[in-house]
Amino acid sequence: MTAMTTNVQGQLEIGGVSTGELTAAYGTPLMVYDEDMIRRNARAFRESFIESGLEFQVAYASKAFMCKEMVRLAEEENLSLDVVSGGELYTALEAGFPAGRIHFHGNNKSEEELVMALEAGIGCFVVDSFLELELLHELAKEREQQVNILLRVTPGVEAHTHDYIMTGQDDSKFGFGISTGQADRAMQIALCKPHYNVLGIHSHIGSQIFELDGFQQAITVLSDFLQSVRLECEVTLPVLNIGGGFGVRYTEEDKPLPISEYVKAITDCVKESFGENGYPLPEVWVEPGRSIVAEAGTTLYKVGSKKIIPDVRTYVSVDGGMTDNLRPALYGAKYHAVLANRPNEECTELVSIAGKCCESGDMLIWDLKLPPVNFGDTLAVFSTGAYGYSMANNYNRIPRPAVVFVKDGESRVVIERETYADLVRLDR
Ligand code: LLP
Repeated sequence: MTAMTTNVQGQLEIGGVSTGELTAAYGTPLMVYDEDMIRRNARAFRESFIESGLEFQVAYASKAFMCKEMVRLAEEENLSLDVVSGGELYTALEAGFPAGRIHFHGNNKSEEELVMALEAGIGCFVVDSFLELELLHELAKEREQQVNILLRVTPGVEAHTHDYIMTGQDDSKFGFGISTGQADRAMQIALCKPHYNVLGIHSHIGSQIFELDGFQQAITVLSDFLQSVRLECEVTLPVLNIGGGFGVRYTEEDKPLPISEYVKAITDCVKESFGENGYPLPEVWVEPGRSIVAEAGTTLYKVGSKKIIPDVRTYVSVDGGMTDNLRPALYGAKYHAVLANRPNEECTELVSIAGKCCESGDMLIWDLKLPPVNFGDTLAVFSTGAYGYSMANNYNRIPRPAVVFVKDGESRVVIERETYADLVRLDR
C-alpha cells in the first residue's frame, strides 16, 4: 500500500500529481502507477543480489502487469523478462526487449508459440512437460538451433497462500514432480538431446507468500536434486531459478518483509544448502511480479449510487469492479481504499464497495470505513498494480480503463482507455 501523500487542497496525490487532476484529465476508472516505486522495487532486488555476491538474474514476471512501456521500464532497470504466452512474448518483442533476456514459461506452450520464441532467439525456455521436451527439441533440430532450457520441477512444498495460487505441491498442473521421479526422468531425457543446453532447474512454489520457510524448504529439495543429477549424470548444472511469489501489502493485516530480506534469506539458504553438498554455488534466478508492481498501482473510481439498507448495510457503487479487478471475486482478496478528494476527513461511515457488473459477487471491498460518501466522490483503491489490469476483462461489455504512469509531478498514458468501438472491433 502506498504511503499516502496529500497536497495543499487536501487531495490524495500520487507521484506528485493530484488525483483530482488525474481524473479530470483521463476520466475514471483509472489505473495510476507510481513509476518511481516500480523502479525502486526493481532496484531493491538487483541491489540485494549484488550484495549477496552470487551470480543472478532478476526476471520481471510480466503476467503481473504488462504493456510496452512496462517492458521498456524493465529493460531500463536491467531486468530479464518472464513471459508465459505468445501474446506476452509479442508485446516484449514489439517493445524492443532484448530477446536474449526473455524466459518462456507455460505448461502448454503451443507449437506456434515455441516457433515464435525460437525465431526470436529468446534466452531460455522453461520446459514444463514431457510433450514439450520432445516437441521443442524437434523444432530446434529442424532449425539447427541450440536452445537453453531449464526444467520446471515441483519440489513438493506447500506454500501458505490461496489454493489457486499455490504451485509447488506434488498435485499441481505445473512441472515435473521430484518425489514421483518424473523430474529425474525428464532430466535424463533432456541431457541426451543434442540441441538442448540444459542450464538447470526452475521451481515456483506460489504467490503472495510472506513466510521464508517455503522458499528455504524448496531450495533444500532443489539443491539435493541438482546434487543427485551431478552424481548420476556427471553434469554440474549452473542455474537455480526459484520463481517469484514474494508477498505485498494490500491492507494493514499484511506484513510483507522488505525485498532485501527475501533475497537475503534465499541467497543465504542457497549458500548453505549447496555448500553442504559441496556443489559449486549456482547462479540464482528469481521472477518477481507482484512485489515489483502491486503497491505502485492505485485505481481511481467515481462514486455513483448509494443504497442504504437500514440496520443491514450500505452499498456504495463505483464505475468499475470485477472487470478491472477480478481478485476480490476470484480469491476473496482484500483491499484498502480512501476518498481521494477528502482523504483526511474523519471516517464515520461503514460501507461496502460494489462494482457495476450484473453480478452480486462483484464486490470490491466489504466493510470499509469512509467519511460520509456522496455521488461524485473519487475512491482510491490501493495496491491494485498486480494482476488487476492483466486480468481485466470485458464482462458486460465494459471497456477496460486507461493506465497512466506518474513521476515527478508529470503523468502520461501508457495504455489508452478502451472505447466502445474497440469492443465491437472483432465482431462480424
Ligand atoms: N514465476 C512463475 C512461474 C509464476 O507462475 C508466477 C506467478 C510468477 C513467477 C510471479 O509470481 P509473483 O511474484 O507475482 O507472486 N493471479 C494471481 C496470481 C497468479 C500468479 C501466477 N504465477 C493473483 O492475482 O493473486
